[in-house]
Amino acid sequence: MSALSTATEPILSLRGISKRFGAVAALTDVDLDVLPGQVVAVVGDNGAGKSTLVKVLAGAHRADTGSITFANREVTITSPADAHALGIATVFQDLALCENLNVVENLFLGRELRRGRLDEVAMEIRSWELVRQLSAKIPSVRVPVASLSGGQRQTVAIARSLLGDPRIIVLDEPTAALGVAQTAEVLNLIERLRDRGLGVIMISHNMEDVRAVADRVAVLRLGRNNGVFDAAGVSSEELIAAIIGAADNVVSRRTNRREDPGDE
Ligand SMILES: Nc1ncnc2c1ncn2[C@@H]1O[C@H](COP(=O)(O)OP(=O)(O)OP(=O)(O)O)[C@@H](O)[C@H]1O
Ligand SMILES: [Mg+2]
Repeated sequence: MSALSTATEPILSLRGISKRFGAVAALTDVDLDVLPGQVVAVVGDNGAGKSTLVKVLAGAHRADTGSITFANREVTITSPADAHALGIATVFQDLALCENLNVVENLFLGRELRRGRLDEVAMEIRSWELVRQLSAKIPSVRVPVASLSGGQRQTVAIARSLLGDPRIIVLDEPTAALGVAQTAEVLNLIERLRDRGLGVIMISHNMEDVRAVADRVAVLRLGRNNGVFDAAGVSSEELIAAIIGAADNVVSRRTNRREDPGDE
């Protein structure tokens, strides 16, 4: 599907990752491989452990057990700084943008370019470069983020995460709460990231988005792996069955009832 899909060595491999919160086993023995130039969607029901997995990769939570291999080296991620140093960037669902600041200020918040004083020109040029590379439609990099659409904000958050030149980008629900046109824009953006050779992990609830942009789909159920699918060959019903753990259940019965009976 992608230009770089010939790469077969994962850039990132998780093996046997477990994470408990007291009595709750949020993740149990989870494996995940991410290849450069590929989009892996991670799907699962509420509480399946998706955000916990994102936080383990981001260095916000430390896994209790399991190993993480990055670029053929076993690594530990104990802090956000570790994740950043490895080249794993995360865009959290809330985006963490400052509404009252403009695009340039948001991109460089906490890592302003200086040459004695703030180098506004360099930061503005770099901001435009990033926006252009992402083929994003942002009217101006000097408008406050409050005036941007949801899709444009997602773009700003992704652009910010690219400043550290990551090799993996993790997007937690990038299209949740977006309209049709904005969703299409963000899906295009995800394809740009893949074309640049990044490994993309996309958390999503939306099977249409997943099937539109992902190369592979990893299902989590109750904190465990419940199948990895080739996105081109899997139907929404199959994914839903894996997500809820049964072919014969209320949601898939509903889905089947609405489909052509011959089209399983
Ligand atoms: N900080 C925490 N303390 C205690 N329990 C937690 C914590 N974070 C997550 N959990 C629990 O771990 C399990 C997995 O949660 P997680 O947020 O990873 O699920 P999710 O797949 O992201 O769900 P959603 O689709 O609702 O976002 C849930 O049972 C949740 O209640
Ligand atoms: Mg979550």
